[in-house]
Amino acid sequence: MNAHTAPPRKPQTDPEMDQLALRNVMGQFATGVTVITTLGPDGAPVGMAANSFASVSLDPPLILWSIGLKAHSLPAFRGHGGFAINILCEDSKDLALNFARPSEDKFAGVVWRSGYARVPVLDSAAAVLQCRTEQRLPGGDHEIYIGRVMDFHQREKSPLLFHKGKFAKMGEFL
Ligand SMILES: Cc1cc2nc3c(=O)[nH]c(=O)nc-3n(C[C@H](O)[C@H](O)[C@H](O)COP(=O)(O)O)c2cc1C
Repeated sequence: MNAHTAPPRKPQTDPEMDQLALRNVMGQFATGVTVITTLGPDGAPVGMAANSFASVSLDPPLILWSIGLKAHSLPAFRGHGGFAINILCEDSKDLALNFARPSEDKFAGVVWRSGYARVPVLDSAAAVLQCRTEQRLPGGDHEIYIGRVMDFHQREKSPLLFHKGKFAKMGEFL
């Protein structure tokens, strides 16, 4: 029996839910890729790759994303009142990978400038939303951040995509 003929999984809500299977299902949802940045308490730039970003509201302009409670960057996001969503372009896979693992030196060789609330804004991003943290909400093993967009800009660049655990480029518009 292959994946196409397998019967639907019976709904599982117990704590023993198959986390790998759940992760695979989530991977069916293709997303863009962002690096979300802020400033650490020592004034050093902090950032991590994230694809949990979503638009929430236009009026007021609100977005959300979530960060794992084990992320090393979490104290910096908790301590600073702002962050920037840097939406990556298709040639930034290595940049994404660099920001997807803990390191003291993620910003080495990365061109950035200070934006709203002195938060780092990446030069190579396809688009940037600079935000003020409006709310931090519990979200299981993640913390959900709701931000108010204070400034934004974009460039004519194709976005980097993420699907089924792999990076991808845009195919064709339908
Ligand atoms: C495409 C992609 C998307 C990711 N999205 C998120 C996310 O939305 N939230 C999160 O907490 N981690 C996410 N991660 C994992 C973090 O980038 C990773 O745990 C990173 O090491 C966190 O850095 P830190 O521990 O230095 O804070 C993602 C990783 C990749 C490759």
